[in-house]
Amino acid sequence: MLAGKRILLIIGGGIAAFKSLDLIRRLREQGATVTPVITRSGQQFVTPLSVSGLAAQKVYTELFDLTDEAEMGHIELSRAADLVVVAPATADLMAKMAGGHADDLASTLLMATDKPVLIAPSMNVRMWDHPATQRNLATLRGDCIHVVGPDDGAMACGEFGPGRLAEVPAIIDGISGVLADGPLKGKHIVVTSGPTHEPIDPVRYIANRSSGAQGTSIARALAALGANVTFVTGPADVAPPAGVTVVPVQTAREMQAAVHAALPADAVICAAAVADWHVVGAGNSKIKKDADGNTPALEFAENPDILAEISQMKTGRPALVVGFAAETDDVIGNATAKRIRKQCDWILANDVRPETGIMGGDENAVTLIKEASADVWPRMSKDTVARKLATAISDALTK
Ligand code: C5P
Repeated sequence: MLAGKRILLIIGGGIAAFKSLDLIRRLREQGATVTPVITRSGQQFVTPLSVSGLAAQKVYTELFDLTDEAEMGHIELSRAADLVVVAPATADLMAKMAGGHADDLASTLLMATDKPVLIAPSMNVRMWDHPATQRNLATLRGDCIHVVGPDDGAMACGEFGPGRLAEVPAIIDGISGVLADGPLKGKHIVVTSGPTHEPIDPVRYIANRSSGAQGTSIARALAALGANVTFVTGPADVAPPAGVTVVPVQTAREMQAAVHAALPADAVICAAAVADWHVVGAGNSKIKKDADGNTPALEFAENPDILAEISQMKTGRPALVVGFAAETDDVIGNATAKRIRKQCDWILANDVRPETGIMGGDENAVTLIKEASADVWPRMSKDTVARKLATAISDALTK
């Protein structure tokens, strides 16, 4: 619930601006107060009248509105909220934010605020994929701006791909996550989760049985303690949790790039079952059956070890790096050796022999291995494992 929370909502100029009306309605339903600001181009898509009607508040549009400067200056306006939300955040607004521009009311408020900022980007897929936008996104993440979406799907312009404004409930979950008061408030934690898919050709891939359940529970538990979570997930069976920034990836190399782009972080939790190898030369042509019955020979190359890389960073290493060791033999011995080899701080060892039913199941039995201790946790639900781990992480980061 968002009872009593004050949100400054900046509505940018995009076809998705109409969804901001629903966002205002639902935020108010949850007890929040919404002070709306509409950019000049935003006013081409929604009218100040409908926005102010739904918000039951005055709408701010111009920087040099003398009456407002007398009543409430733009500095005060930018700080009289608990959170600034930009929805939809256009490519132009993101560029202005990343560049530190302050040439209209929206960009000036974003520069002047001392409150957390959450953006929900929305734009054409090519504009989203453009290196400039991706550069700006990385800058904004580095500036601790919270990002929800965009979603993948059909766009108003007829194209398909990432760029659609996140659904309103997802934006609200993101807002709730940022405003959640908990011991991990202000901490940025990256969680990797799920399997990776390594293409053989455009239609075939190599995968593993990871469902993503444990990583998803961990991300949810960390967000519930107030952390700002970046959730880098391979193609999992379970839906990502609400209130986190979801970065979907397919391959180990995409996961590596996404984790690095999400840094700096206070902690990185590598719960993904990353494929150890990818197929060399997987191209855009489907491998055909050979008329003579010859089978294709696949050549493999090793994938980057994300956990080891982050653990061994010379500068900017997160304060806490946690890995998993899914083992079938000598679980504790192998996991202990793995912690030392990879140089992560903690490793959660689990027994994934098929008869345990752990891989893809609802329960887990782990041992938390640190430099000087091994704490055996009895078999429990993956949600309980996640909550215990989140509490341990919170204790470690806030001590
Ligand atoms: O070496 P192994 O795959 O058993 O190590 C498991 C741990 O390392 C997990 O935490 C997993 O997320 C991480 N890992 C990784 N990148 C890889 C392989 C594993 O981050 N390429």
